[in-house]
Amino acid sequence: MPAVMIQPSILAADIGHLYDACVRVEQAGADAVHIDLMDGIFVPNMSFSPAVVAMARKAVSIPLNVHLMMIRPDKYVDAFCDAGASSLLVHIEPEYDHAETLKRIRDKGVKPGIVLNPDTELSAIESVLPLVDEVLFMTVFPGFGGQSFLSEPLTRIKELRQTYPDLDISVDGGLNRETCKTCFDHGANVFDIGSSMFKPDDMGEEVRVMRELLV
Ligand code: DX5
Ligand code: ZN
Repeated sequence: MPAVMIQPSILAADIGHLYDACVRVEQAGADAVHIDLMDGIFVPNMSFSPAVVAMARKAVSIPLNVHLMMIRPDKYVDAFCDAGASSLLVHIEPEYDHAETLKRIRDKGVKPGIVLNPDTELSAIESVLPLVDEVLFMTVFPGFGGQSFLSEPLTRIKELRQTYPDLDISVDGGLNRETCKTCFDHGANVFDIGSSMFKPDDMGEEVRVMRELLV
């Protein structure tokens, strides 16, 4: 299994202090900053823009893991890659040319990833698997932080891990010490964590505890 990566999501940060939140993530010893983009159409909420990715790029030197919750992510590949994304993750559910989009992300020198909602079957991503570096399983329906963890994706995570021992398999939504451990035990190695990373006073301690748990 690839290395464990802890990626706090700045969706859970105080929006008045986003730059400081990115710095806090880096100083906590986390592996990357997870940045959530919502278009208000694919999900019933809106969040950040390419300008926020550019801000984060200035704030820290760790990778920026950018999660696009949009119906037309293909239209924004250049904008997010040029803003400094290290990985760009797009959902499989909306209709656009997934393969062409993932190839274009790689051509920009950025790692492509595909994302599945909690009720999307593994078969949906079969044809694009050779094109991605990361598969992200949503463990909540995307749109909002602070929701409860859904266990439905666990069997799919286990199945994918059996076939792809070296792939980065991520989870996002409702993660805390307990649910991270459950996902890890099913084969996930990348953890996008919002509320339970930003709530504790000492994020560094939370990152350390997570790393000790996920072995
Ligand atoms: C949800 C986002 C998540 C969110 C997770 O739509 O994709 O990245 O920040 O937040 P928590 O950890 O609070 O569920
Ligand atoms: Zn996310």
